[in-house]
Amino acid sequence: TSELPKGYTLRPLQKSDHEEFLSVLRVLTKVGDISFETWSARYDWMAARNDEYFIIVIENDQKKVVAVGSLIIEKKFIRNCAVVGHIEDIAVAADQQGKKLGLRIIQALDAIAQQVGCYKSILDCSEKNQGFYEKCGFKLAGVQMAHYY
Ligand code: ACO
Repeated sequence: TSELPKGYTLRPLQKSDHEEFLSVLRVLTKVGDISFETWSARYDWMAARNDEYFIIVIENDQKKVVAVGSLIIEKKFIRNCAVVGHIEDIAVAADQQGKKLGLRIIQALDAIAQQVGCYKSILDCSEKNQGFYEKCGFKLAGVQMAHYY
């Protein structure tokens, strides 16, 4: 059940994914023009925290990045110093949607979250994506609130 389409592979983000990674994210939201220098600085910051930031991609049979997703690990005091996973910035290139790539990204992040000891993973999404996350095994829990600055 967890097979990717033929020729597709799932792997960690690499620094050389710069343009392709950002262009997949543009299906999700505003990304901006991020120079390779700015990208590299943020990439290096995250790479130095590779037990907290897990960013994965799926590339197609042409080695092009077509799906992306992130898991951020939060350490807590509650529940005996529990660990929680935050799933963020899931995106599949527009012409690659509907091939279960989003599902495979979530399954891979779920597996990492379990391996590192998270008792749950949580995420925020729009109502139109609720059905997708339900198919991935998530259940509606609470209300998202935001304070923009
Ligand atoms: N509503 C209901 N069901 C859906 C939806 C939806 N919006 N999208 C997919 N599904 C269903 C599929 O039909 C499929 O069901 P099936 O198993 O019965 O066939 C199942 O969910 C898995 O779908 P995938 O093929 O894996 O979905 P896809 O690869 O297209 O990825 C995604 C879904 C990530 C929402 C993609 O459409 C996308 O990139 N959208 C734009 C960006 C976005 O909104 N990202 C999510 C932001 S929320 C966050 O990042 C935490």
